[in-house]
Amino acid sequence: MKDIYILGIESSCDETSASIIRNGTDEIATVILSQIDIHTNFGGVVPEIASRHHVKNITMVIEDCLNKANMSMNEIDAIAVTYGPGLIGSLLVGLESAKTLSFIYNKPLIPVHHIAGHIYANNLVKTMKYPLIALVVSGGHTDLVYMEDEYKFKRLGGTLDDAVGECYDKVARVIGVGYPGGPVIDKMATLGSHTYNLPIPLDDNSYNFSFSGLKSAIINLVHNEEQRGNEINKEDLATSFQEVVVDIITKKTLKALKDFNVKNLVLAGGVAANKGLRDKLTLICEENDIDYTFPPIKYCTDNAAMIATAGYFLYKEGRFSDLQLNAKSSVELQ
Ligand code: KG4
Ligand code: ZN
Repeated sequence: MKDIYILGIESSCDETSASIIRNGTDEIATVILSQIDIHTNFGGVVPEIASRHHVKNITMVIEDCLNKANMSMNEIDAIAVTYGPGLIGSLLVGLESAKTLSFIYNKPLIPVHHIAGHIYANNLVKTMKYPLIALVVSGGHTDLVYMEDEYKFKRLGGTLDDAVGECYDKVARVIGVGYPGGPVIDKMATLGSHTYNLPIPLDDNSYNFSFSGLKSAIINLVHNEEQRGNEINKEDLATSFQEVVVDIITKKTLKALKDFNVKNLVLAGGVAANKGLRDKLTLICEENDIDYTFPPIKYCTDNAAMIATAGYFLYKEGRFSDLQLNAKSSVELQ
């Protein structure tokens, strides 16, 4: 069978990225330009600044990727692009670039849902087996998804308020360790011990999550200690926070695996890079005879390799879009 090369483009938040993937499994080249250093100054992503930087960089990123792959646009079979969800101004930059290339080079345009991309990043590690449960944990999502087969998503539940990554970023800001908070808190959590008594978030029988109560408890704790002139032990707080978060997430993931009698788990999204979460999931999967896959650390946060990979499976089904395709800031996983 002929090899299929998909050019993926991702610009939904603060990473400008392009990637070429062969047959939905082999990475030929990937370029990721992160704006983290720019947004760190503001303590979070500023949408207007993000889209301006995408405009400035997108052409260069796509060109770099083609050069790195030593390929020309004529050798590309289709262009996959994130159309949502994400920041509208950021999404539009990648989308318009993809539409332009699709028009000029007469290549099919494949619309990829950002979260489908995060899930399919696992296919770069090993072929995904169905049925599976996908645990999606990012700055915008905390979802448990049942997949019966390729591109058949059923959302079992998710966060009722803050996403888990958002909560990490907020806690990091409150204790003054910068943006994005996830990686910093994750590292600090290996240095402390679980000494702070924090509320367990939404410990019920559902597949839903709620992190706003936990977030508020930490904000109050930090403020109260400050007012009393006491110093917070940041490492201990990071450990206490991470353990509570990881425990509830793994508990509900295991429940979903058992309830649906599923033997395959994939992890997805920026928070999939979390060491505490990976370690605990590994433990429960090994104890329960579950086959698990985690994306490579570099492809946990936003990147175009995952978009090109997810795009390949839509390509196989001929699910293309015309040039009317529009960006959507929020859209159901499909
Ligand atoms: O998937 P992503 O790049 O963007 C969204 O689609 O949201 O995820 C970014 C989020 C941020 O909130 C960041 O703090 C979090 O992922 N994150 C982590 C870790 N690395 C990134 N959270 C916890 N532990 C980490 N090691
Ligand atoms: Zn993402």
